[in-house]
Amino acid sequence: MTTTTTATTTTVLDASDVTMRFGGLTAVRSVDLTVNSGEIVGLIGPNGAGKTTFFNCLTGLYVPTSGTVKYKGTVLPPKPHLVTQAGIARTFQNIRLFANMTVLENVLVGRHTRTKEGLWSALLRGPGFHRAEAASHARAMELLEFVGLEKKAEHLARNLPYGEQRKLEIARALASEPGLLLLDEPTAGMNPQETRATEELVFGIRDKGIAVLVIEHDMRFIFNLCDRVAVLVQGEKLVEGDSATVQGDERVVAAYLGEPFENAPGDEEVAEVEAAEAHAETTTDAAPGKENDR
Ligand SMILES: Nc1ncnc2c1ncn2[C@@H]1O[C@H](COP(=O)(O)OP(=O)(O)OP(=O)(O)O)[C@@H](O)[C@H]1O
Ligand SMILES: [Mg+2]
Repeated sequence: MTTTTTATTTTVLDASDVTMRFGGLTAVRSVDLTVNSGEIVGLIGPNGAGKTTFFNCLTGLYVPTSGTVKYKGTVLPPKPHLVTQAGIARTFQNIRLFANMTVLENVLVGRHTRTKEGLWSALLRGPGFHRAEAASHARAMELLEFVGLEKKAEHLARNLPYGEQRKLEIARALASEPGLLLLDEPTAGMNPQETRATEELVFGIRDKGIAVLVIEHDMRFIFNLCDRVAVLVQGEKLVEGDSATVQGDERVVAAYLGEPFENAPGDEEVAEVEAAEAHAETTTDAAPGKENDR
C-alpha cells in the first residue's frame, strides 16, 4: 500500500446541481457544494436566500426538484431517517427539542433516531428504550459534558435558557454519531460570550473528525471559524472561497449592505442585486440601506 495517512481528504458531502422549487418560486437554484473531511464550511446569505431550504434538501426533509446529494460517495435517498443513518446530523433554525423530556432524554432520543423503530421506542419510552438507555447513558453524559450541560441533565428541556437549548440540540445531533454536522444558525439568540463558546464548540467538533456545514448571520463567527464560505443570494451560489475572497467580493457586500458597486456592473447584475435587497429588506427587521445620520 502506498497510501499516506497524513494528507488524505475525502469528500464527505457532495451536493450537485440542487434545485428546489415551490410553485413559481425557485428557492434554491442549481447549487453545487462540497464539504471535505476536516473542514468547517460556512453558508451565508441574506434572509430568504434559500439557506435553510438547501439544508432541508440535504437532509431529506424536502425532495429536491432536481439534483443529487452524496454522502461519502453514496447518493442519499431523500428520507430524513436514512440521511441520519447514513451519517448526517443537523440542528434547526427553530429549535426542535422534546420540551417535556429532560436534557438527558433528549440526547438519548438523538441516539435512537438512527432507526424509525428506535425513535418510536424512545418516544414511547418502552422497555427497549430503557435497555438502550442504560447502554447509551454514559455516551449521552459524555456529550452533555462536551457541550457544557452535564449539570443540567435532569432539567426539563423547556426550562433551559435559549442558548442552552441550542447547545442541547447540538448534543442531540452528535448523539447519532455523524460524520457531517449541519448547523442552522447555532448562535441565534445567544449573547457574545455564548457565541464565543459555541465557536470553540464547533472547533472541538471538527477536531473530533466531524465535518461541519454552518449557516450563520454572525459574520465574525463565520469568518473566524470557516475554512471556506459559500454565499447564497436568491437561491443561487454567488461566490465561494476563503474568508478573504468572500469579504473582498463586491457582489457580496452589495447583496448585504445595499451599497452600489465601485465598478459599474452590467444591468443584469444590478437588477439581481436590487431584487435581493428588496427581498432582504422585507424580511429583515433591521435592514441596512439608508444612511441617515441622526
Ligand atoms: N415550504 C415552503 N413552501 C414555500 N416556500 C418556501 C418554503 N420554504 C421556504 N420557502 C421560501 O423559500 C425562500 C428561501 O427560504 P429559506 O428559509 O430557505 O431562506 P433562508 O436563507 O434560510 O433565510 P433566513 O436567513 O431568514 O433563515 C423564501 O422565499 C421562503 O419563503
Ligand atoms: Mg434559514
